[in-house]
Amino acid sequence: MKLFPSLLAADPLTIGEQIKSLEPYCDGFHIDVMDDHFVSNIGFGPSFFNAVRANTKTSLTVHLMVEEPEKWIDRLALDPPDRFVFHWEATGKTRAKSLVNKIRDKGWNVGLAIKPLTSVSEIEGMLSEVDLVVLMGVEPGFSGQQFIDNVAYKISELDSLRKKLDLSFVIAVDGGVNKSNIADLLRLGAGFFPVGSAVFESPNFVEALEELYAVEERIVG
Ligand code: DX5
Ligand code: ZN
Repeated sequence: MKLFPSLLAADPLTIGEQIKSLEPYCDGFHIDVMDDHFVSNIGFGPSFFNAVRANTKTSLTVHLMVEEPEKWIDRLALDPPDRFVFHWEATGKTRAKSLVNKIRDKGWNVGLAIKPLTSVSEIEGMLSEVDLVVLMGVEPGFSGQQFIDNVAYKISELDSLRKKLDLSFVIAVDGGVNKSNIADLLRLGAGFFPVGSAVFESPNFVEALEELYAVEERIVG
């Protein structure tokens, strides 16, 4: 499995130090962009994202909780294999298809996110075009919320479709992931987890990450 500390949950006054100290212990970082329209919150902007990109070697995922993800393509300096994740609810089908082409032209990986109440069947026609499907485990916008249990069912649905259609996209769960539920999410077929409060609200961030990675070793072992 892959774990990505979600910087929205980090202390904004010491974020640079936290990035440096966690970089060796995780698969990369998750950076939330919000426009106060698609969700009622403001997230990181292009200067922050691009500064993290320029100062770390690890992979980044940018999660665009914005109404016009198209606008962000030329603002962000992703570096493959970074992932550009946008919301299906923001674009709908026609815009999603053309945005995928623009992301591919940049050479970046494509992630498609859906909110907890959006059904997997809506995005079935997009599955062959994306590298990552992000199932939101909470209503997007804030760290520290509780995982919505019904979302687990969508992992199984996506996993079945992945097998049926012979595709290899990765299933991510963003929001509410912690050491109590990550084993179930893994068993159902998810493998990629942004983690906010489960890391940054714990007394020792590195230990919190190691505890999460250890869950998978226990399952496999
Ligand atoms: C929520 C964000 C998440 C958030 C996760 O809308 O997209 O990335 O930071 O935080 P936790 O893990 O605390 O739910
Ligand atoms: Zn996110």
